[in-house]
Amino acid sequence: MSNLPVWKSGVNLAVIAAFCTSLVALTWAFTAERIETNQQEWLERSLKPALAGLFFDSPVTESMITLQPPHELPGNETAVIYRVYAGVEPVAALFVISARDGYTGPIRILVGVAMDGTVTGVRVLEHRETPGLGDRIELTKSNWVLQFDGQSLKNPEASRWSIKSDGGDFDQLTGASITPRAIIKAIKKTLTYFEANRVSVFTASVNDENSASEEDD
Ligand SMILES: Cc1cc2nc3c(=O)[nH]c(=O)nc-3n(C[C@H](O)[C@H](O)[C@H](O)COP(=O)(O)O)c2cc1C
Repeated sequence: MSNLPVWKSGVNLAVIAAFCTSLVALTWAFTAERIETNQQEWLERSLKPALAGLFFDSPVTESMITLQPPHELPGNETAVIYRVYAGVEPVAALFVISARDGYTGPIRILVGVAMDGTVTGVRVLEHRETPGLGDRIELTKSNWVLQFDGQSLKNPEASRWSIKSDGGDFDQLTGASITPRAIIKAIKKTLTYFEANRVSVFTASVNDENSASEEDD
């Protein structure tokens, strides 16, 4: 048994707690910047596949704007738009939007659109679709998502933006047509939005939420 008075144990404990807290704070201070840089680099790397074949030289993540719902892009969640530049020239916009009518809920997707309205790439970021059925929208499971590369509302024309069994031009997934319908509808709506807001997407300032939603004349 120790004879240390209770107040002394309390002081000892307080000193140890203060020391540990300072250590955590110091570690955070030294690593926070590095962590942020790593996260930024990771995000840049994840966005690039949706910009295939495009020359750009700006860090994509620096030009992000967000649109709070309700907005005219697909989904009820916050929509994110990254503006992509070659020098000062805008070359594409990357949209992070949600296809609402997936089989098991919203599907978060990344849609890259070049200035002429053609798709530069589509990637599925998050979904809860069924393994073996709807999850073939993931590039690791099938090439289904690559069929949108280079397509626009003129090619195929807007009325043919649906799966083949609905009279459209796009491949479905065997035994799972709900998931493809949701994604195609969301891409088409994104292209329609870009067509109407091409100028305001690039004139909106970084902190200017929802200002990209005003239709261009
Ligand atoms: C347990 C279960 C999970 C399913 N998951 C999906 C899914 O993730 N995506 C999808 O489109 N359809 C899914 N389906 C199938 C749909 O109910 C529907 O039958 C199908 O999308 C219609 O496709 P089809 O027109 O090619 O027959 C699932 C069905 C069951 C029974």
